[in-house]
Amino acid sequence: MRKTKIAFYDAKEYDKQSFMASNINEEFDIAYYETRLNKDTCKLAEGCDVVCIFVNDDVNPEVIDQLKENGVKLIALRCAGYNNVDIEYAYGKIHIVRVPAYSPYAVAEHAMALLLTSIRRIHKGYIRTRDFNFSLNGLTGFDLHGKTVGVIGTGKIGRVFTDICKGFGMKVIAYDKFPAADSGIEYVSLEEIWERSDIISLHCPLTDENRHMINAETIRKMKKGVVLINTSRGALIDSEALLEGIKARQIGAACLDVYEEESNVFFHDYSNHIVNDDTLARLISMPNVIVTSHQAFLTNEALSNIADTTLENIREFFEKDTCPNEVCYKCANLANCKQTHEKKCF
Ligand code: NAI
Repeated sequence: MRKTKIAFYDAKEYDKQSFMASNINEEFDIAYYETRLNKDTCKLAEGCDVVCIFVNDDVNPEVIDQLKENGVKLIALRCAGYNNVDIEYAYGKIHIVRVPAYSPYAVAEHAMALLLTSIRRIHKGYIRTRDFNFSLNGLTGFDLHGKTVGVIGTGKIGRVFTDICKGFGMKVIAYDKFPAADSGIEYVSLEEIWERSDIISLHCPLTDENRHMINAETIRKMKKGVVLINTSRGALIDSEALLEGIKARQIGAACLDVYEEESNVFFHDYSNHIVNDDTLARLISMPNVIVTSHQAFLTNEALSNIADTTLENIREFFEKDTCPNEVCYKCANLANCKQTHEKKCF
């Protein structure tokens, strides 16, 4: 029997290892490509049934048309977010599946790791002691206990982060466009989040509506010295406004696992190059900014779940005609979408 052929873009060593370790890997014929999917690399998928992509592959209308022309029937995202895919244009042309959850713990724990590193100055202390500098000057932090954290987005990751914060004795307030009934979470307006939070952590998807939700105006409304954590999507924050807020001492610290222009730099080694992004360079130069390169998901457990779910998604699509993890713009935008996912969306 012919195996389902997959063109796997933006493949890293850890991706290959986790996919090869999956129990059902043998059922597929996977070609791994280091390059990202874009209009120039579509050709690599000629004769393939599926393209498997990640957060920074750019699936715009031109790419969708070319993939369809090449015979690709399915775009399998090996991530949860799908803001890099034009899902409206893809509707009726190519199906899209994703991995809605693989380890909310991985991301929530990374958010807390960034927060602790930043406010307890671990990143500075680490470098000092390696140089036998045992001075404590300038390393004073603050207790998390008793502080108010504003959580934006109380889905899978936001909830785990909330629980972690409660374990630290923090007061949690939250904003969600669709608050969860009977969750026991104290939901407040965004205005209150800005005004009351000592720490703000973003755990919502990026949409047209909330792009740059953290901007010059909202930063002005925040408490002086607020700590911002973004492990969601870079464009939720206007980076220029963030930089200005840091320079004005309005923002006490920023913990960034994502960055709005990350697709140009993240996941690559530019240590021997001159990076052209002045905003990123300036942010990284700040003593109170920590940047990790979209690393929050990267645990053994998450990688293994991503590989298993992605391959299961592909198997179900071709074998059973069902598609539980399908993404379509109707499902995404219409609260009353009739799709049950027992059948494909079109
Ligand atoms: P989820 O779908 O379980 O929860 C998202 C929550 O955000 C939902 O409760 C939803 O009602 C809420 N929401 C939707 N639009 C909103 C808006 N405009 N304002 C406020 N809340 C809104 O998603 P999950 O699994 O918790 O993931 C959250 C985000 O984390 C993803 O969208 C993705 O961008 C990011 N992520 C980042 C990773 C990383 O490695 N840095 C890895 C995985 C996810």
